[in-house]
Amino acid sequence: MSFDLEQTDELLSTTRAVRRRLDLDRDVPDELLLRCIELAEQAPTGGDITSRRWLVVRDSETKKKLADLYREAGGNGIIERAEQHTGTGHPKQGVLDSAAYLAENLERVPVLVLATVWGVHDGSGRPGLFDSVIQAAWSFCLALRSRGLGSAWTTLHLGKAKEFAEILGIPDGVTQVVLLPVAWTIGTEFKPASRKPASEIVWFDRWGYTKENHGDVESLIASLPGVTVEVDIAASPERVWDLVSDINISARFSNEFQGAEWVDSDGPREGASFVGHNKRTDVGREWDTTSWVVACDPPWVFAWNVNDREDPSAQWRFELEKIPGGTRLRQRLVIGPRLSATGHAMKDNPDQAGQILASRQEQHRGNMASNLQGIKEIAEKGG
Ligand SMILES: Cc1cc2nc3c(=O)[nH]c(=O)nc-3n(C[C@H](O)[C@H](O)[C@H](O)COP(=O)(O)O)c2cc1C
Repeated sequence: MSFDLEQTDELLSTTRAVRRRLDLDRDVPDELLLRCIELAEQAPTGGDITSRRWLVVRDSETKKKLADLYREAGGNGIIERAEQHTGTGHPKQGVLDSAAYLAENLERVPVLVLATVWGVHDGSGRPGLFDSVIQAAWSFCLALRSRGLGSAWTTLHLGKAKEFAEILGIPDGVTQVVLLPVAWTIGTEFKPASRKPASEIVWFDRWGYTKENHGDVESLIASLPGVTVEVDIAASPERVWDLVSDINISARFSNEFQGAEWVDSDGPREGASFVGHNKRTDVGREWDTTSWVVACDPPWVFAWNVNDREDPSAQWRFELEKIPGGTRLRQRLVIGPRLSATGHAMKDNPDQAGQILASRQEQHRGNMASNLQGIKEIAEKGG
């Protein structure tokens, strides 16, 4: 059989965390739940042993006890944070309000489904526990969605897993993995979430190695290869931004980049250009480049193109993302499309193009990694 990709892709891209649109008044029949669990059980399972156990909770009093524990375990904190942030334009306000709504109303959801597995993680790294439940629980969510029901993946209660086990009679030796509040959804239209494009989070053959051009390309260099390096920094995006938007910062940590001056500007702004000085001792080469700032969005993005603004030989980009406790900083390089020294070498030696590219990528990665490490150290010192 062939699948209707439009439908399956729609299912995969719109199965969202549903909280405010859970219909609290419409009953969910057991039959439907069992069918969805049967489908979920088709997911792979460690050792090919049926170790998953599913608890379907409908009893009002039991649900109330579980909901109280969910709130104690963190739900109350979410409710408070949502209230504090109301009207402040906080970027996560939507998710916070939605999570707060669920925390306030958990006992009113028609059924709570707890996915568990026989076994306790022993830290051995052997598969068979969470790894045997998560894929099945997600299939369950997909099966629900395709039938007009919804859920939200919740794990807050795990802080009170012992108390849950007492209330529900879960024996020792069983691990709880996820609590899924299940209801019909109010309306069935859901939108895909905003996520990073795959090409930004997929590495080819080696960690951090990217490709921008995935079509039919005539050569390796035409695939627009690149390198991405990331580091988590315990400092605010603003603090990290001050460092990454300093065009001389990388000169402190890179073997290759020696420093730069602004040409027609005294600081970063889109359209400004700077001259950078470079040196490679391995090939005995020194050269200057002119670069144009193509994106400057403090404190999130700082990017420049080298040698030609529209047809660069290299594209550099810093991206900052706020994460709990700090900032995730990524530095991305795309080699090309215009031929650089590496590109020329690859073109002139097609048999060795792969090797030439890999060794240059490795060099870049080393420089970029020490650069990010250096920025991290300064940012975290606060000096
Ligand atoms: C591991 C994990 C744990 C989560 N725990 C909770 C939770 O305890 N409570 C909750 O309301 N949402 C929880 N979520 C749901 C996320 O908050 C949810 O993915 C987010 O709201 C974005 O929704 P979306 O994926 O539909 O875009 C959890 C998600 C994951 C992956």
